[in-house]
Amino acid sequence: ADLQPHNSLQLPCIASWCCEAEDEGDVLETCALARRYGLPLLALGGGSNLLLPPRLEAVVLRQKAQPLDWPDPLPQDLTLRVSAGYSWTALVEDTTQRGYYGLENLALIPGQAGAAPIQNIGAYGREIKEVLVGVEGYWVDSQQRDWIPAQDCAFAYRMSRFKQDWRQRFIITHVHIQLTQQGELNLDYADLRARFSTRPESDQPLPWQLAQIISQIRREKLPDPLQLPNAGSFFKNPVVSIEQAEQLRQLWPQLPVYPVNAQQVKLAAGWLIDQSGLKGWRQGAFAVHQQQALVLVHHGGGSLEELLAFASQIQQRVAERFAVHLEREPDSALSLCQAH
Ligand code: EPU
Repeated sequence: ADLQPHNSLQLPCIASWCCEAEDEGDVLETCALARRYGLPLLALGGGSNLLLPPRLEAVVLRQKAQPLDWPDPLPQDLTLRVSAGYSWTALVEDTTQRGYYGLENLALIPGQAGAAPIQNIGAYGREIKEVLVGVEGYWVDSQQRDWIPAQDCAFAYRMSRFKQDWRQRFIITHVHIQLTQQGELNLDYADLRARFSTRPESDQPLPWQLAQIISQIRREKLPDPLQLPNAGSFFKNPVVSIEQAEQLRQLWPQLPVYPVNAQQVKLAAGWLIDQSGLKGWRQGAFAVHQQQALVLVHHGGGSLEELLAFASQIQQRVAERFAVHLEREPDSALSLCQAH
């Protein structure tokens, strides 16, 4: 199966099998197929946070979206059950347009709902863990159905148990999201504060309006994968000690710093790459995006190996300048399979 059209970086990839599941029966059959062939099972959402090798010895599962089931009339508070294949962007639109608070800061994130908890997607001051009640799905080995409450998922910055000890062991079929029509907007993120500080308290936007503003900010900075293939942020924002950040601040007073806890802060990887003079830098098929240095873009004809070599040169340049290690953000399907 050709996965090049199914990953947003458009890396060339041929997988042993790719199964499209219409329903949960198909999900179980796909688990059984993987076991029969002794192959790892890779659940593929939008493929927007994944690095694929040229050949993938695995069974790939894609799940079809089911329509949302809206109660009539709409209650003030609602736990919405969403199928894994549902488009995340469509979900944010569908919920905010019905007046629900919860997902507005996560507008225009590519990918599917089932992938959202895996790396605990986050943007503009909100992470999915804040509104996720839990997930439904199957354990691959026993093919037992299970409900996992959010508090058991060990969510952290771009991290969960689905990327650690449950990696490839649990297939999410549904996510349950907590929504309310009597909520409050989170406008703490710097980009948002700048836009809203001049507005009076009484003139705050509605969830769908904030979602639109955030979509606009994202469109200005982040390349559309359909036009310029990419996987969003290619590196995590590094977490360092407060002392290390202070030392860097003496040399670079503009250094952006975000609070984490009493000992640590988060730096902006995009800023570090930018200040290393790498914005717009291109080698062969890959480049650092012009508008946002945290995003690597694929101009076509490149492979995973070339991408990783390009990324490691960036990591080296940033380490030389700032003595900070940049950790990769998207998952590599190769390491998923090696973990099997
Ligand atoms: N910056 C630069 N140059 C750049 C890029 C950024 O100077 O080329 C500076 C900005 O001016 C700002 C700071 O770095 O002071 C942070 O930039 P920005 O607000 O754009 O966000 P980010 O830290 O680069 C993170 C997430 C994004 C998310 C935004 C908004 C990570 C790895 N990335 O990016 O997530 O949309 O915040 O919340 O945490 C993704 O995960 O794929 C993603 C796009």
